[in-house]
Amino acid sequence: MRRLLALAGLLCVLGFAGYLVLTAPFTWDELHPSRDVADAGPPDLANGHSLFYAGSCGTCHASPAQKDETHLGGGLALTSGFGTFYMPNISPDQADGIGGWTTAQFIRAMREGVSEHGDNEYPAFPYTSMQRMTANDLRDLFAFIKTLPAVAGKARGHDLKFPSRCGGASASGSSSFSTANRSSLIHRKA
Ligand code: HEC
Repeated sequence: MRRLLALAGLLCVLGFAGYLVLTAPFTWDELHPSRDVADAGPPDLANGHSLFYAGSCGTCHASPAQKDETHLGGGLALTSGFGTFYMPNISPDQADGIGGWTTAQFIRAMREGVSEHGDNEYPAFPYTSMQRMTANDLRDLFAFIKTLPAVAGKARGHDLKFPSRCGGASASGSSSFSTANRSSLIHRKA
């Protein structure tokens, strides 16, 4: 009996470890072909402006209790069955927003839901809807965001229920919904 329990325990640990490895961003990178990268040319700010409003970035990321959608200090609460998400600051502030990010980091976050530090983002951030965007469109969007006011102050951390607060849980969202790397979907039909 004791052996059976030990075996069951071992299987649980191995299963959990396997889950973490399978859902880790580096496993995703290894298993999927690399995507297009942005051209070095100057960004198209008008295109970035259109994408910003088409993607409704301000609806979630604008600071609450004010009307300016380009004031991207975050902090708005999104309540869900998983707990409460607080929108992060995505203004160009170097310390508290995404002003210090590289274009490649921004593109990865938007298409793959992987944060600046390589962690999985929660799918409350609708990156699964943006996974088919081209790198050039995202470069333009990032350049446009950088023209907006820098807002100081980090938004508070999410207040999630167990097990949603465990890092790997968000990765299951990435794995379940992301289809972007299927090559037929990568290229925008002209
Ligand atoms: C439905 C609400 C919603 C919309 C619309 C939305 N986001 Fe977000 N976004 C979130 C949430 C929630 C997070 C935090 C996810 C997490 O912490 O794992 C997030 C995270 C991010 C991050 C990562 C920030 C960080 O510090 O890691 C970036 C970058 C981002 N969003 C950019 C955008 C842009 C650009 C748009 C518009 C094209 C947009 N978002 C639209 C909800 C939204």
